[in-house]
Amino acid sequence: MRPLFVDPDIRKAETLPASFYRDKTMFEDTREAIFSRWWQYAGDVPDPAHTDNVIPFTLLPDFLDEPLLRTKSVAGDWRVLSNVCTHRGTILVQDPGRYRQIACPYHGRCFQLDGTFKSMPAFKEALDFPRPEDHLPSVAMEEWLGLFFVALDPAVPFREVVGPIQDYVGFLPLDTLQYDPAQSRDFAVKSHWALYCDNYLEGLHIPFVHPALNEAIDFNAYEYHQFPYCNLQVGIADPGQPSFDLPPGHPDAGRAIYAYYFWVYPNLMFNFYPWGLSLNIVEPKSRDTCLVRFRTYTFRGTEFDRSVNAIDETELEDETVVEQVQRGIQSRLYRTGRFSPKMEPNVHHFHRLLAADINAYQ
Ligand code: FES
Ligand SMILES: [Fe+2]
Repeated sequence: MRPLFVDPDIRKAETLPASFYRDKTMFEDTREAIFSRWWQYAGDVPDPAHTDNVIPFTLLPDFLDEPLLRTKSVAGDWRVLSNVCTHRGTILVQDPGRYRQIACPYHGRCFQLDGTFKSMPAFKEALDFPRPEDHLPSVAMEEWLGLFFVALDPAVPFREVVGPIQDYVGFLPLDTLQYDPAQSRDFAVKSHWALYCDNYLEGLHIPFVHPALNEAIDFNAYEYHQFPYCNLQVGIADPGQPSFDLPPGHPDAGRAIYAYYFWVYPNLMFNFYPWGLSLNIVEPKSRDTCLVRFRTYTFRGTEFDRSVNAIDETELEDETVVEQVQRGIQSRLYRTGRFSPKMEPNVHHFHRLLAADINAYQ
């Protein structure tokens, strides 16, 4: 396959070719080239009073489909382990619960909660056993904002990815974020996952697609910033709209900021508002479908402001337009497009990262 090329000079660059969104092999390649290497959301850190100490989960169901386990040590630390037995590979744990050890239901191999091999019937005669490979593999895991993140084969350390976000939002009461299930929803979208991200990464469509949002923010003042593995769109509040109370010394001190829209390569969106965080996770399902999970977290003492932010309305508007792109990009008459240097630098950033990863893999 020909390498992908996205010119570093946005003024000359073309967008990723339509084949990136259409080819079956390209979609398959993104699984190992991108999603197994970059940090993924892996659930919320349970409340300390929560009694389950072993929680099975699947990382990116239907795509990575990696069976994993969160386990909690007696000291209270969480770790993430493989949920696959090191003997003949069955799934170890089906249900969350309070466990003293992890016992395989197939032939009885047992592991400590930290994944260390403990015992196995009928293996006394086995030579060089147990080896390090007989322990459960442990997976790189980080906690941030009360959320777990894992990477199966981390491309870079987590802090290098999200460090710039912390610099902007560190003044907020991040340790008080509380999940609000009533304001959280999953949306099944009929598009390639990267088309959904492309749309998120530019505000050029706001006046055309989001009339209500366009009333709340100053479209012309919209700003774009790129960092190594994440980028930011800054929404400037129109007069009378809610905005952050920024401390002196903050990069935007003195300005009326409506929202910080951070995107983390390849598929996570952290939208910070004065009331809290809207986390969006774009999960690839197939070449032409994805699941977009909207999870709402509010700062203790504040309430999700539905009237102002109208997340559902904005999401449905985005979904409609992205599904039209999914149809259009199949056209025999469409090959590639160009970027608006003023309004699409974050899409350009995304395409550059994708091209680099895919080319390094092929
Ligand atoms: S597969 Fe687990 S003990 Fe055999
Ligand atoms: Fe949008």
